[in-house]
Amino acid sequence: MKPALFFLLGAALLVNSQSLNSTSAILNASATATSSPLLAASTTPAANPVYPVPTAFSPPFYPAPDTRGEGAWKAATAKARARISTWTLEQKVNITTGVGWQNGSCIGNIASQPELGFDGLCLQDSPLGVRRSDFVSVFPAGVNAAATFDRGLIRARGLAMAEEFKGKGIHVALGPMMNPYRAVQAGRNWEGFGGDPYLQGEAAYETIKGMQTPGKGVQAVAKHYIANEQERNRTESSSNVNDRTLHEVYLAPFLRSIQADVASVMCSYNQINGSWGCQNSALLNGVLKTELGFQGYVMSDWQAHESGVGGALAGLDMSMPGDIIFKSNTSYWGYNLTESVRNGSVPESRVDDMATRILAGYYLLEQEQDWSEVNFKSWDLQLDPLFNKHVNVQADHYKLIREMGAASVVLLKNDNNALPLKPSLRDVSLIGNGACPPWKGPNGWNNRAGADGNLVIGWGSGTAQLPYLIPPLEAIQQRARKNATTVIWTCDNWDNTTIATAATGPEAALVFISSNSGEDNAVVDGNYGDRKNISAWLNGDYVVESVASRNKNTIVIINSVGPILMPWIDHPNITAIVWAGLPGQESGNALLDVLYGDYNPSGRLPYTIAKNQEDYPVPYINFQTTLEPAHPQINYTEELLVDYRWFHANNITPLFPFGFGLSYTAFEYSDLEIVEATVSKRHLVEEGLHKRANTTEVGSSVAEWLHETRWSVEFDVTNTGSVNGCDVPLMFVTFPEAAGEPPRVLRGFERINLDPGATTRVSLPLSIYSLSIWDVVSQRWVKPEGEFKIVIAKHADDTQLESTL
Ligand code: BGC
Repeated sequence: MKPALFFLLGAALLVNSQSLNSTSAILNASATATSSPLLAASTTPAANPVYPVPTAFSPPFYPAPDTRGEGAWKAATAKARARISTWTLEQKVNITTGVGWQNGSCIGNIASQPELGFDGLCLQDSPLGVRRSDFVSVFPAGVNAAATFDRGLIRARGLAMAEEFKGKGIHVALGPMMNPYRAVQAGRNWEGFGGDPYLQGEAAYETIKGMQTPGKGVQAVAKHYIANEQERNRTESSSNVNDRTLHEVYLAPFLRSIQADVASVMCSYNQINGSWGCQNSALLNGVLKTELGFQGYVMSDWQAHESGVGGALAGLDMSMPGDIIFKSNTSYWGYNLTESVRNGSVPESRVDDMATRILAGYYLLEQEQDWSEVNFKSWDLQLDPLFNKHVNVQADHYKLIREMGAASVVLLKNDNNALPLKPSLRDVSLIGNGACPPWKGPNGWNNRAGADGNLVIGWGSGTAQLPYLIPPLEAIQQRARKNATTVIWTCDNWDNTTIATAATGPEAALVFISSNSGEDNAVVDGNYGDRKNISAWLNGDYVVESVASRNKNTIVIINSVGPILMPWIDHPNITAIVWAGLPGQESGNALLDVLYGDYNPSGRLPYTIAKNQEDYPVPYINFQTTLEPAHPQINYTEELLVDYRWFHANNITPLFPFGFGLSYTAFEYSDLEIVEATVSKRHLVEEGLHKRANTTEVGSSVAEWLHETRWSVEFDVTNTGSVNGCDVPLMFVTFPEAAGEPPRVLRGFERINLDPGATTRVSLPLSIYSLSIWDVVSQRWVKPEGEFKIVIAKHADDTQLESTL
C-alpha cells in the first residue's frame, strides 16, 4: 500500500483579498514580516465553495516526499540544501511564489533577494521559441518536430531554442508541451508531439536533453501535467481517466521527461478525477514524486493554483504567476504560506523541500555562473528602451529551422511523379491565401490569433514573435527567376473568377489550404481555441475543387495544426498532397526545398487522418457553454485506444494512417532478427525484488533494470530507388491477448539516410518497460506472460517484417 493519509481540504484554504501596490506585495516584505497586518488577515479562511460531487475519485497521497538528490541531481541538490540552510522562512517562501502577473519583465518572475545574492528567476514561454521578445527565431512547432521522427534534429532544435532563451537572460523556458492528440479538435495539439505516447515520450526526452545541454541550456518545463486535453472548460472540468490509461498513455511523455532530468513540471488547470491538477496529491506526491522519483519542482500553470495549504501539502512547489487572479495582489502563498507554516498547517520542512527543489534546478543548469541579466520586457516590446536591449539571439538557427521544416513535410500522395517539380516547369500558379503573406504582417494578430496568410504557427501562449516570415509565394519567386518559370498567383479565397483564371493553363497548380487552432484565451472565427470542426478554413475545400476541376496537375499543400478532412481526395486531377504543418519562419523555403526535390521528403504523420470526423475516438470536444454543473466531467472512455489504436480495434480504415509518408525513392526491409542482450546480475536481482515488493519504491517506474535494453530488434534497410533519402522504419508490438492491450502499439523508430543501392542494419531496443502494462492491483509495471509479436512497418496499418518474442 502507498503511504497515504486523509486530509481535510476544507480547513486548508488561506486566502487574502487585500491589495497592495508594491511590486512584490504578495511576498514576504522582509524577515520581519510577522508584524504585517496582512498576516493576521490571512488567517481567516475563505468560504469553502460547494462543488458537485465528482464522478471520479483521486485517492489522497501524503506526505509530500522530499527530494533525494540522487543521480544527475546529486551535486545540484546538495548545493541547494546548503544554500537554503541559512535562509529564513520568509526568504525560502519568496522563492516559491511569483511576484504577480506583469510585475516583472518575464511571463513569470521569482523576485531577486539581493541580501542573499540571489538574482531571481525569469520564466518565459514558449515551446517553439522565446515569446514576447524581438530578434528571436520561430522554430517549427512540436507537431512538426514529431513528424521528422528524427531524434538528432529534435535534440538540435531543443538546444538552439535554449541558446536563444539563455541569450535573453531567461532561466526557465516554459516547454516542451506534451499533451497528446486525444481529441482531434483540441486547440493546443500542435504544441505537442502527436498522437502516440511513445512518440511523445521520445520527442519530449530529446527536446529536454537539448534544452538542458550542460553549459549551454536553460531549465525546461514538462507541461501540462496531466490529462489537459482540450481548451474548452479547461479551468473547470475534470478529466476522468483510469489508472492504467493514465500510466500507459498520458504519463508516458512525463516519465521520459524525468529520465531526461527535466528541471520542472507544470501542473495543469483541470481537475483529474475530481481533484485539481495543482493539488492532486495522488498525481504530484504519488505518481510524480514517488513512482517517477521526480527531483525537480512542480510549478502551477498561470492561475492554476487553487489553494494555499492544500497545494503545498499535495506537492506543489512554485506558484505562478504568484497572484490568485491576475493583478489581484492576492496570493495563496507568499506571506500566506509563511503564515501557514507559523500556524502549523504546513510543516516548514515542506517549504524547505520546495526551495531546495527550485534551487536545485537553478544549480543543475549552472545558473549561478555568468548568467546575463534579463535584457527584454514582455509587455512593452518596442517602447521601453530601458528594459529592451534588442539583443539578437538568432545566430544561424534559420538553417536548422529550414532543415526541420523540410524534414517534417509529409508527402501524402504523389501520382505520376507530379513531384518533385522540374526546374524546366514553364508556368506554375499558387492559389489560396495560405501561399501568401498575412495582410497584417507576420505578427499583426495578437498572439497570432488570426486567420490569414501562410499559417506557420497556431495561436496562444505557445507562440513567439516572428522575426520575418517567408511564405511560399516569396520562396518560389527566387526559383522562378533562376529557372525562367512564369509564376501566377491569387491570395483571395473568395474571388472565384481569379481562381478559375489562375488554375487554367499552368503546368502545375499549387493550392494552399489551412486549419488553425490555439489556446482558449482568444476566439478566432468562432473557434474557442479548440477547432469547431476539422475542415479546411477560409473556403479551402471550394478552392481545391475549383482548381482541380480546371488543372490536371493540382497539388494540394496543407498547413494545419492537425488532421483535416479531404472531401476532394478522389478527384483524379489532384496528383499530389503535401502536409507541411506549422514550420515556423522559413516556411516557404522549407516547402520549396521538398517540392523541387532538393530535400527528399521523409516526414511521417504523427497522427491518423480519418475519412470522417466521427471515425476518431474522441470526434467532438465535450464542452458546456454554461457552467451548470460547475465542473463538466470529461470521461476518457476510449481508455488505451487513442489515435491508430482506436482505428485498429474498431476496424476503421483511415484516409492516411499514423506514420504514413512517401519518398522520392523506395526502401525495402529484410533479415529480421531479435537478439537478446546480456543483463547484469544486479539488475536481475532488482527485477526480482521489484516483483516481490509490497510498497511503491521511490523512482520504481524509472529504475534502470526496467528501461535498459533487453532485446535488440535488428533488420536491414535498403534504398532500392534512384536518389538519396531518409526512411523511418517503425516497430510495433502486439501483446499476448490476455494483456488487454490495443492490437498494436508503437515501441520504436529510427530515421536513417541511405544512398541509392545502399543497405544498413538498424537495431531498435526493447526493454521490460516496452513490453509491460501498468498493473493497477500491484501498482507496478508488469510484463505479461505469453508471446509478443514484433512488427517492422512503414506505418501503423502496414507489416513489412514480423517475428515473435
Ligand atoms: C498556458 C501555459 C503557459 C502560461 C504562461 C497558460 O495559460 O497554459 O502553457 O506557459 O499560460 O503564459
